[in-house]
Amino acid sequence: MSKVLIVGAGGVGGVVAHKCAQVPEVFSHITLASRTLARCEKIQREVRELQGRDIEVAQVDADDVAQTVALIRRVEPALVINVALPYQDLTLMDACLEAGVDYLDTANYEPPDEAKFEYKWQWAYQDRFRDAGRMALLGSGFDPGVTNVFCAYAAQHLFDRVRTIDILDCNGGDHGHPFATNFNPEINIREITQKGRYWERGEWVEIEPMSESRVFDFPGVGERKAYLLYHEELESLSRNIPGLERIRFWMTFGESYLKHLEVLQNVGMTRIDPVMFEGREIVPIKFLKALLPDPASLAENYTGKTSIGCLIEGEKDGKPKTVFIYNVCDHEETWREVRAQAVSYTTGVPAMVGAMMMLTGEWRGHGVFNMEQLDPVPFLEALGQHGLPWHVTAL
Ligand SMILES: NC(=O)c1ccc[n+]([C@@H]2O[C@H](COP(=O)([O-])OP(=O)(O)OC[C@H]3O[C@@H](n4cnc5c(N)ncnc54)[C@H](OP(=O)(O)O)[C@@H]3O)[C@@H](O)[C@H]2O)c1
Repeated sequence: MSKVLIVGAGGVGGVVAHKCAQVPEVFSHITLASRTLARCEKIQREVRELQGRDIEVAQVDADDVAQTVALIRRVEPALVINVALPYQDLTLMDACLEAGVDYLDTANYEPPDEAKFEYKWQWAYQDRFRDAGRMALLGSGFDPGVTNVFCAYAAQHLFDRVRTIDILDCNGGDHGHPFATNFNPEINIREITQKGRYWERGEWVEIEPMSESRVFDFPGVGERKAYLLYHEELESLSRNIPGLERIRFWMTFGESYLKHLEVLQNVGMTRIDPVMFEGREIVPIKFLKALLPDPASLAENYTGKTSIGCLIEGEKDGKPKTVFIYNVCDHEETWREVRAQAVSYTTGVPAMVGAMMMLTGEWRGHGVFNMEQLDPVPFLEALGQHGLPWHVTAL
């Protein structure tokens, strides 16, 4: 029985609140805090209606460490689940250390003025968390998150040696808008407009943005074209999976999405540096975010499925072996269960399961951890039980 403080009331924060509410034996008391109180209150009403539980809500600016520490001291949680934005990762880690509680997030820190996804800022907290006897779990979403656990499971239970990993992420759903992003537009667009990068034999190989693509047959969705992108789990997995020779990440995009993005880029609307407009500075991508549909609002009419998994090649008992480990998630089903689309759902469920692992003591440690550094079995068992069944296909 534990108190938990969820920070961030967007698409993912809503799912985490609902899913924690479904497990009262672990999450005995839930507080949801965010910058805009009204969004917390909306989720509070939905949790009461759909899960029959009352959660607390609070307003907080998580960029402000003192304010966040005061909230943590008032709520007295055992764990802070950060599902605000990556920009808040470091201030929330500071606040957790100061207030003496554990920390979990789903996306690695990036500085607001530079689209650079690296763990170095958060790995730098290793000694402080270890010395304080506290645990920080990084990247407990789907990718990163479940994909890291799939890789650890394969390395420990399916292979003698893993040689290559391709992480394949497909959203085969349709939200009916000509252009919208499935999670925070600023974070999403920053991620895909940067150069592509993959890791091979100890070296990072850089390519032009969206310059390499391949068609994959995604279970539950069918054939889709996927593009090679850099994604943050490549950094930790390339260090933590022994014997690995290559790891890449692929994500599907529809033609309409890519056409809109190309135009927006060409006219400068995806810029992250400030420009002068009518006597004041604005950041184009922040203005664009204000115009685009709120990702949480896409959920109601979303149809189709997400299909995300790891294509892993290696050796078992002296023979070559290839497997695909994956989950398929249906947008309409997640709407019915927790009023969310599948991209938020596939992030929020692993955040809840990661929190459950920490609070029940299945995953314990002092310091900063990536998902693949912990035992994959109890996590995967709980993942299947709480809405994201996973499958292994031998190819
Ligand atoms: N690992 C994965 O698989 C995966 C996949 C998708 C997303 N993610 C991550 O999940 C996180 C949430 O995504 P989302 O789609 O839910 O985003 P979102 O809909 O934009 O929600 C973000 C929430 O954080 C709040 N927030 C922003 N700045 C804050 C601050 N300074 N203090 C307090 N609250 C603040 C926002 O408040 P307002 O309502 O006031 O704006 C909003 O409620 C992001 O970090 C994203 O990168 C991970």
